[in-house]
Amino acid sequence: MFKVSRRHFAKLAGLSALALATLARSRGGAARPGPYAPASFPKDFLWGTATSAYQIEGAASEDGRGPSIWDTFAHAEGNIGDRSNGDVACDHYHRYKDDVGLIRELGAKAYRFSIAWPRVFPDGTGTPNPKGLDFYDRLVDELLRSGIEPYATLYHWDLPQALQDRGGGWLSSETSRAFGDYAGHVATRLSDRVKSFFTVNECGRFVPFGYGLGIDAPGLKLPDAQVNQARHHVALAHGLAVQAIRAHGRVGTRVGVAENISTCLPAIDTPANIEAAAVATRELNAGFLNVILTGQYTEGFLNYAGANAPKFTPDELKIISSPNDFLGLNIYAPGYYIVASDRPPGFSVLPIPSSFPHMSSDWLRIAPETMYWAPRLAAEIWNVDTIYITENGTSGIDKLHPDGQVYDLDRIMFLRNYLTQLQRAITDGVPVRGYFLWSLMDNFEWIFGYEKRFGLYRVDFETQARTPKLSASFYRDVIARNAIGA
Ligand code: BG6
Repeated sequence: MFKVSRRHFAKLAGLSALALATLARSRGGAARPGPYAPASFPKDFLWGTATSAYQIEGAASEDGRGPSIWDTFAHAEGNIGDRSNGDVACDHYHRYKDDVGLIRELGAKAYRFSIAWPRVFPDGTGTPNPKGLDFYDRLVDELLRSGIEPYATLYHWDLPQALQDRGGGWLSSETSRAFGDYAGHVATRLSDRVKSFFTVNECGRFVPFGYGLGIDAPGLKLPDAQVNQARHHVALAHGLAVQAIRAHGRVGTRVGVAENISTCLPAIDTPANIEAAAVATRELNAGFLNVILTGQYTEGFLNYAGANAPKFTPDELKIISSPNDFLGLNIYAPGYYIVASDRPPGFSVLPIPSSFPHMSSDWLRIAPETMYWAPRLAAEIWNVDTIYITENGTSGIDKLHPDGQVYDLDRIMFLRNYLTQLQRAITDGVPVRGYFLWSLMDNFEWIFGYEKRFGLYRVDFETQARTPKLSASFYRDVIARNAIGA
């Protein structure tokens, strides 16, 4: 007797559904209503891509650029997986015009790049390099000519080495002050054309990884008290930069932070777990986002840190919490799955099973609902009315197929699911105004060197050829239709 397996049956059922749909279309059926309608984004939603200076620019010692802690770290033996560095990277410093063309081809309306502090102040402070901002002048002009809005990040991890040598980098509040001066200088020069600045990128990564675990530059393994102090100095730097941009920028210049928020997701979406996830979001971001947005270190944070708590003054808290215009969130893997608890602090963090799926980067667990909960809870607890997703994307193996194409279906799967959750959040009223996909092109992925590829464009690092991956077509289509789904 002919037996139909369940899988075979499902396939047949799928085929007949397809046949019916085709039939409906061939009879001139109008766009399908209801749940099948594409999920649209708001009319003025800002679609963009993102990169950072050290990861793409190269030209490491050109036009007076000083060394950064990432030059030193990458050149030291054993720090980078493939023993590479950012000396040349994507050679974007010389190829920026073509690269702006790549953004244009996507139809993206915005581009988030970072400015290299050691190009502007090679020594960290003092006299600015006369050629320091010329490259960014040219880049910004090219973007504007192409109808692409520039979003500049002032610090994406490339601290001038001189500041590390002099005062221990972020261990010193002198670095915070130097950052404020640098921010003011950049705002004076660029705010006639750059209307939106992000101060620092991912304090939540570069402080613990660089100062506590020793796996990012400057490669230090310091005790908790110093790590907490370094984080406090970054928060202070952010506040000083906000004030400097207000003082030196043209009227209407906007500023905020770009942070890899510690994401807290309700393990099961019950009201009690959602409330617990909100409490957890505040507490697990107490050392940076919460103090920036409220001007207070939480009691929970100070009690937990005990003698290791950062030293601070009330005046510093005022500077740190200078009002921002928006909040930038980098969203990748889920941080913590939360359930409500009767015991203080009111939530428990569940262990993540080892079988949880991830992308080609081991750390990049796949949880599209992170894109829903992180902005929703952030907007609720900190009363934020403008959020940008400043990074989201994935690595992939991204081999060139013999026909010369890159069929990165895994990246498309990832993006489709995360964007679907973003659309759900916006439909629920979460104020996300824009999305910057990480990354425009493959680049120097820090400790992984060139082995991890996050780009919409594949880069051949021998020839510097850029090839659009299939995901570039996917993203172009999303942008053109301002919608996800069909
Ligand atoms: C973010 C950074 O943490 O994630 C980017 O802001 C980085 O600069 C991206 O490239 C991917 O991280 P990683 O560690 O896999 O290179």
